Amino acid sequence: MPNADPVYLDYNATTPLAPEALEAMLPFLREHFGNPSSIHGFGRPAKEALIESTDAFASFLGARPEELVFTSGGTEADNLALLGAAAAPRDDGRRHIVTSNVEHHAVLQVIEELERRDWPVTIVEVDERGELTPDRLRDALRPDTLLVSIMVANNETGVVQPVAELATVAHDAGALFHTDAVQACGKIPLDVRELAVDMLAISGHKFYGPRGVGVLYVREGTPFTPVFRGGRQERGRRPGTENVAGIVGLAEAARQVDKLLPTESKRLASYRDALEQSVLSSVIDSYVNGEGATRRTPNTVNFRFDGLEGEALVLALDEAGFAVSAGAACDEGAVKPSHVLAGLGLSTEQIRGSIRVSLGRYTREEDIEVFAEVLRDTVAALRGRNS
Ligand SMILES: Cc1ncc(COP(=O)(O)O)c(C=O)c1O
Repeated sequence: MPNADPVYLDYNATTPLAPEALEAMLPFLREHFGNPSSIHGFGRPAKEALIESTDAFASFLGARPEELVFTSGGTEADNLALLGAAAAPRDDGRRHIVTSNVEHHAVLQVIEELERRDWPVTIVEVDERGELTPDRLRDALRPDTLLVSIMVANNETGVVQPVAELATVAHDAGALFHTDAVQACGKIPLDVRELAVDMLAISGHKFYGPRGVGVLYVREGTPFTPVFRGGRQERGRRPGTENVAGIVGLAEAARQVDKLLPTESKRLASYRDALEQSVLSSVIDSYVNGEGATRRTPNTVNFRFDGLEGEALVLALDEAGFAVSAGAACDEGAVKPSHVLAGLGLSTEQIRGSIRVSLGRYTREEDIEVFAEVLRDTVAALRGRNS
């Protein structure tokens, strides 16, 4: 029997907009539609909101307002960081770029493109828990390393990298450090001073802000050349008329995170742990990908059910009223296994049997209790059908 109200357990894909963020945005979609660059009365409220939201978001991140560049989302923030740092003129000959094999495509594909343009690249492998140790990074660095890019939290496994330590290793070798914090923002505390990174990327729609808006933090003094040309907005670092409503919504979403994070992270971690225990103890040949990692985001669990087709499981769960996502995506007719799970050393078969469950603000304890039972029964039914 399908669950009466579908339960959303795919918060790492996107989150619903916080009502407070929507309320804060509405005036800038209605009456305060002016261009913040206009000096007349229509532009002024937009400009003031932009300044206020920038200040608020900077304080949320522990940054200075001048260090923020608003973008169209996480993908653009990552692209801008890597391409902006690569384009900056330098006279020390540094060109080598280092990243890990579990980064989001918004990082990996940019670095692959730079490699095609003759930038030397090293892709460091994480261990079987999905972690990158400072020693592994140190081994990959060279005297000509320009830039290291390692994410804070992984979108598929939730594994959190020791970014502050990794950034220190990179800095000791004279390299810059960029981090993709898209899946960390809203789930764990984030402070650019504690992380000591040079650049950090964030996306609004992953923490109850609007879609189509993100932020790149660029620490003052970081060599950076803009990628786009055409205007003086964002201090020339990302020209184009600002998405005022989006930026206002993003800042309001961050205010809500500030208020809710301490209680939410405990609440979700306890549901997540209960779900893991229930599944591992009641379903044979079930595993948690990334288990044993020192730290994971409190809301994410990536399950593996040997001998099962994850996509069939996702569809069956959807029919039963639960939205989760698969470890292998069907792309133009071919099943493409996740490079993140492959990075943990899993075989294609094991990746196919993996699903990601990500909890969030509207997840209730009873949802997880029912989900654990439905998951157990659905896995049993699919295995029965296959045998
Ligand atoms: C780790 C990570 N980086 C970057 C992105 C891209 O962000 P956006 O959807 O805002 O472009 C995502 C989105 O899934 C992500 O999970």
